[in-house]
Order: sequence, then structure tokens, then C-alpha cells
Amino acid sequence: MTDKNAKLSVGGKTIELPIFSGTEGPDVIDVRGLVAEGVFTYDPGFMSTAACESKITFIDGDNGILLHRGFPIEQLAESSDYLELCFLLLHGELPSKEESENFRATVQNHTMVHDQLTHFFNGFRRDAHPMAVMCGVVGALSAFYHDSMDFSDQDHREIAAFRLIAKMPTLAAMCYKYSLGQPFMYPRNNLNYAENFLHMMFSTPCGDYEINPVIARAMDRIFMLHADHEQNASTSTVRLAGSTGANPFACIASGIAALWGPAHGGANEAVLTMLEEIGDEAHIDTFIAKAKDKNDPFRLMGFGHRVYKNFDPRAKVMRQTCDEVLSVLGKQDDPLLKIAKRLEQIALEDQYFIDRKLYPNVDFYSGIILRAIGIPVSMFTVIFAMSRTIGWFAHWNEMVSGNYKIGRPRQLYTGYSKRDYPSK
Ligand code: SDX
Repeated sequence: MTDKNAKLSVGGKTIELPIFSGTEGPDVIDVRGLVAEGVFTYDPGFMSTAACESKITFIDGDNGILLHRGFPIEQLAESSDYLELCFLLLHGELPSKEESENFRATVQNHTMVHDQLTHFFNGFRRDAHPMAVMCGVVGALSAFYHDSMDFSDQDHREIAAFRLIAKMPTLAAMCYKYSLGQPFMYPRNNLNYAENFLHMMFSTPCGDYEINPVIARAMDRIFMLHADHEQNASTSTVRLAGSTGANPFACIASGIAALWGPAHGGANEAVLTMLEEIGDEAHIDTFIAKAKDKNDPFRLMGFGHRVYKNFDPRAKVMRQTCDEVLSVLGKQDDPLLKIAKRLEQIALEDQYFIDRKLYPNVDFYSGIILRAIGIPVSMFTVIFAMSRTIGWFAHWNEMVSGNYKIGRPRQLYTGYSKRDYPSK
């Protein structure tokens, strides 16, 4: 942080505000002193507001760069795996061989859920949206584990991390099985993280799902690409919920709720729905016109981003993974992939998208991969939530481990001034 100051003239008075510099990214103006001067900042949507200081993830939107504890996502996707990334996001450094073995073993020993938790599913309709179920059952985790509820204790926070990393795939697969009317499949401790998820999703008591290593590796890479992304809407929701001292499992459930929206994590599901609605390359121009029409609420799902004004680096890795998976499954002629690639090409050449710097984001290709693997569209955002749980928890942990205040934004009030209740 530096000793530079910004000068602001308000009501004929000049106010000096400190400017802080991070290791990367724009400087920030510390506006905390403004409330004493009787003014607020006004920034709906937090377009230019840094809500916190963090060391976990950095995004350079103009240059399409995403760093997790300084490591570029492309290098992590190539050389790491999701559990190593979980360790990195939580602890700030890559694990040693021994740390990695201990971390993986601990996760493996927490993959089962309390048997009472299975009863929560029965209250839902079989056709309930899996994200509705996840909001419920993940929130319900806060009703367990009374042996470790003192979250000022680092050990209690650590066991909560292990329980969430380990149990999210189990709960996600249970959502899918419940929707099918199939029995829940128990996790297998002889499988790695992605293999175990595929097993719990697609095996039945009558027979095991045959795990294709290319598919398992792609699944793990999808988990990595969704793991964390700075102060996005759902992570900010988790931080705000956590700033009240709420139970971390309940805070994660609030993140799931925020992620569900189609403008955020729900976009992967919306992309598939959009591609199926386009149906044929011949219809692409009509949908591009709709996306550009101010009077039409339709937006090109999977395109655009609040921070990236260049390619989302995750989308590039996702597109490469998409080609790998469809090729190994013999589905390289998938019509939806063809529509997606043609749509991307047309949009990237269109002045409307060029002027607004709208590029494919992480959600544009992920759904095509998941669908090819046999995962239903309704489960796409559940997989995003599973993956992002480590990011949510890492940010919650970073906040509660340090000095923090309860988040309480102010407002620009434009309602009635004081008026008296009419006498009878
Ligand atoms: C995720 O924050 C994160 O990091 C999120 C995420 C993560 O990992 O956590 O990266 C995951 O949520 C990715 C985004 C997934 N959502 C979508 O794909 C939905 C479609 N995208 C848009 O809804 C939109 O691009 C947002 C929500 C992603 C970003 O919205 P902004 O930053 O508020 O941008 P905006 O709405 O102000 O758009 C600027 C202009 C507008 O046009 P003008 O008013 O300037 O004429 O671009 C237009 C918008 O109409 N625009 C689009 C568009 N996205 C923006 N026009 C058509 N299609 C689109 N997809």
C-alpha cells in the first residue's frame, strides 16, 4: 500500500483520500472516511468498488489473465488437478508430496454424508430443480457437526473445508440419483475425486460405470476451471453472509442460491437451452439480431463478462477440452458444438460484440462437454456450485481469519420524506 492521496472536492471542501496499490490490478481509493464527511459513494452493481483485500485470485480482464495464488489457470489446468488447486486456494502455496497425500486422504475419509441427511431429499418432488435441492441439503449441513462449530478456531474451519470439498460431489450425485428415482451410490475410496463423482452419478447397484480416463480428466479440469473467480456475485454473497458470523455451511448455501441465476452460474444451463432453441446454423443470424436488439431481453448466453473484456482464459481451455471429449466419445460432429463454434465465429466478427468487448466466457462450452458425458442440463449449475465451493470457502476463510467488519452497504434514498399518518 502506498502513501498517495486522491483529492475530492465536496460542498466546497477538499477531502484527501488515501490511495492503495496492490501487487496487481488498479489502485483503490479508500473512501471509508467519506461517511464522516456526510456523503456516500454510489455504485449499484459494484462496477468500480473493491469490497475487500484478497490474496487468492487475480483477474486481468483486459488481457484475459486469471491467476490463482499467482499461477495462471492455463498452467494449472495443464499440470495440476482439482484437489491440488483446493490446497493452493486454501493455503496459498502448492502442497509438498506429503501434504498432498495427507490432503487427499483426508478428503477421501469425509466423502460420505450423515445418513440422516438422506431424509432431506424425500421432502422434494422428484422433478425439483437440483439447484433448489442443493440449496436445501447444503444448508442442512449446518445442522450437523456440533463438535466443531467454533469458527474462530482454525482447526474447526479446516475440518469444515474438508467436509465441504469431500461431500459436495456426494450431495450433487445424490440430487441426480433422486431425480431419476435410482438409489444413492456410496462414494468409493479407491477412486480419485473426478472418478468418484462419475461413479456416484452413473453407477447403479446392478453395475459399475466404466470410467474413461479422458472423461475423468476432463471432469477434473471442469472442476478446476470453475474453482474460484475473485469477488463474483456468489463469492461476494458468501463473504457478506460470513461477515455476520453465520455458519459456513449456511454461507455456502447462500453462494449456491446466488450462483443459480442465469446471469451468473446458471448461464451454462441457459447456453444449452439457447443452442437447442437455435437448432440449426441457419438460424444463428436471427438470434444474433435478437441479442443486439435493445427491445429484446434475449442475450447471447455464455457471452460477455463484467471483468473480462478479452477472451475468458477458462473458455479457451474449455473449448480444447470440449474437442477432446467429443472426439473420444466419437461425437465430434455434435450439431450443438457446430452451432456453438459458428455462433462464436459470427459474434466475434460482429461490430456490436467487438465494440462491447463481448467474448465467450467459462459457460459457453462447458455445457456441451457435460451433455456429451451424459449429464443432464439441470445438473450443469450444480457442477459449477460443486467446483466453486472451494473458492467460496477460501474467501470466507480469508475473511474470518483476519480483521473484518459486518458488511452493511448504504443507499441513495429517493422515497418519501417524513410525513404524518392521516388522522382518522
Ligand atoms: C459467470 O463475475 C464472475 O466472475 C462470474 C463468473 C465466475 O466465474 O464467477 O465468471 C461466471 O457468471 C460468467 C457470466 C455468465 N453469464 C452469461 O453468460 C449471461 C450472458 N452475459 C450477460 O448477461 C452479461 O455479459 C454479464 C451479466 C455476464 C455481464 O453483464 P455486465 O457486466 O453488467 O454488462 P452489461 O449488462 O452492462 O453489458 C454491457 C453491454 C450492454 O449493451 P449496451 O447497454 O452497452 O448497449 O453489453 C451488452 C449489454 O446489453 N451485453 C450483451 C451481452 N452481455 C452484455 N448483449 C448481448 N448478449 C450478451 N451476452
